[in-house]
Amino acid sequence: MKKNWWKESVVYQIYPRSFKDSNGDGIGDLRGIIEKLDYLKELGIDVIWLSPIYKSPNDDNGYDISDYKDIMNEFGTMADFDELLKLAHEKEIKIMMDLVVNHTSDEHKWFIESRKSKDNKYRDYYIWKKGKNNQPPNNWISCFSGSAWEYDKETDMYYLHLFSKKQPDLNWENPDLRNEVHSMMKWWLDKGIDGFRMDVINFISKNQEFPDGINGDFSKYSMNGPRIHEFLYEINEKVLRDKNLITVGEMPGVNVEEAKLYTGEDRNELNMVFQFEHTDLGNGKYGKWHKNSFKLTELKQILSKWQKGLENEGWNSLYWNNHDQPRVVSRFGNDKEYWKESAKMLATCLHMMKGTPYIYQGEEIGMTNVKFENLNDYKDIEIINAYNDLVVKKGRSHDEMMEGIYDRGRDNARTPMQWDNSENAGFTTGTPWIKLNPNYSKINVANQINDEDSIFNYYKKLIEIRKNNKIVVYGNYDLILDDSEEIYAYVRTLNDEKLLVICNFTGNNINFELPSNIKSEYKKLLISNYDKCNEKTLENISLRPYECRVYHI
Ligand code: NOJ
Repeated sequence: MKKNWWKESVVYQIYPRSFKDSNGDGIGDLRGIIEKLDYLKELGIDVIWLSPIYKSPNDDNGYDISDYKDIMNEFGTMADFDELLKLAHEKEIKIMMDLVVNHTSDEHKWFIESRKSKDNKYRDYYIWKKGKNNQPPNNWISCFSGSAWEYDKETDMYYLHLFSKKQPDLNWENPDLRNEVHSMMKWWLDKGIDGFRMDVINFISKNQEFPDGINGDFSKYSMNGPRIHEFLYEINEKVLRDKNLITVGEMPGVNVEEAKLYTGEDRNELNMVFQFEHTDLGNGKYGKWHKNSFKLTELKQILSKWQKGLENEGWNSLYWNNHDQPRVVSRFGNDKEYWKESAKMLATCLHMMKGTPYIYQGEEIGMTNVKFENLNDYKDIEIINAYNDLVVKKGRSHDEMMEGIYDRGRDNARTPMQWDNSENAGFTTGTPWIKLNPNYSKINVANQINDEDSIFNYYKKLIEIRKNNKIVVYGNYDLILDDSEEIYAYVRTLNDEKLLVICNFTGNNINFELPSNIKSEYKKLLISNYDKCNEKTLENISLRPYECRVYHI
């Protein structure tokens, strides 16, 4: 396996809107990020993934871009961005930009032109189809509820939008459009950025027959579509090759076999992908809008399949959280009596795996899910549209839907970063664009940064361990105790070195035995979330609630 800097890095995701506001307008901004670079340096991360900062009407908080070469008003100016990049580089922190090119905003100049007439130069930049008997061209349902087609009376045709109707899908079949995207990417690379996180990039190639999907599901015809590898190879060849960048493709619905093709070392497409099998656990009749539930054996089976599947071909990204996911300590841990223990355990379980770890802002201090009683306090278009569809239109009960929103809604990740216990958690001096999580007086950076035993300092140690032990980066992974519903345990192996990782996913004391070949070996405890580990040998182990340990053997 080749050695690469991006395999040895830890990435920190910033959702700028909710990170740090520098000018009191209630919205995070680029100068706010500049203020916090020393904080990130202290944590020890190598790369910042910046969620979109481009000009946008914010129908979907910047994932609807109206100008790829300009900065969103609320976030600052291009001069602020240039300064951020320069200062980050001075601190040896790289910057990975979000590339959103499955769709634009309907306010992008290409779309404004495109909708004007059938023979406009930009018409084919988007996907236009005639309706069928006064109905949309097919039955596809958008990710944000309702038909994926919007009727436009100007030309009496429909355009495709797999997300909101203000996010029309680009037509990648058109070589002019592809060239525009390539040259825009080069423009950013010329500024000196270090890579791209590519938004729903496996959606860009669509089956050109546009067949109906089962119950309106477009995934078979618009995910991992017929020309996807060709398009990614082309991007690589024309834009990325030989630049030693970091690239990660966000890919809902991707499986291991596909991921090998996307990330295979000799295939020249991407470095890694974000897969969703573990975050989709507990989905049901109403999609993700269900109360949180998962079986540990299922979680282990999924993550282990990815670990083994990409062990020799390709590379994994490792994440629990991002701006679309609920907070991990609330989802797979216990955000009440074992808040600190379970946040650390989950971090250990993920960071000792093989792949590039991603930390989402606030995860490193154990930020939790939020419960807003008033629906109006939710700002996310996905939540609002799903509520209108499932409750208002289809009659699901309000209470059941709210449970789903509390446990899985995206705004759980988007409440402002909790810096200290002053008003608005030190996020803004103005009125925050979304309410804070009221627990900020207890959970905040100021409380943790100087506390040796804090979640923050634990993340810092995990990052150091990765830096000081090649086995964490390059060792192979093997699951043990496969059938346990309580313990997640695995072994990493590099040459004659081994790491043993044992994590208790419950609030109970759990006794268990390790496989005999492991018990007998010499051990040194590298890290644990409890200070005294009772055992002298590995004969019979007892783990306390949410306890985890990593042994070097
Ligand atoms: C995935 C992004 O992570 C999400 O936030 C966004 O809503 C969709 N793609 C559409 O761009």
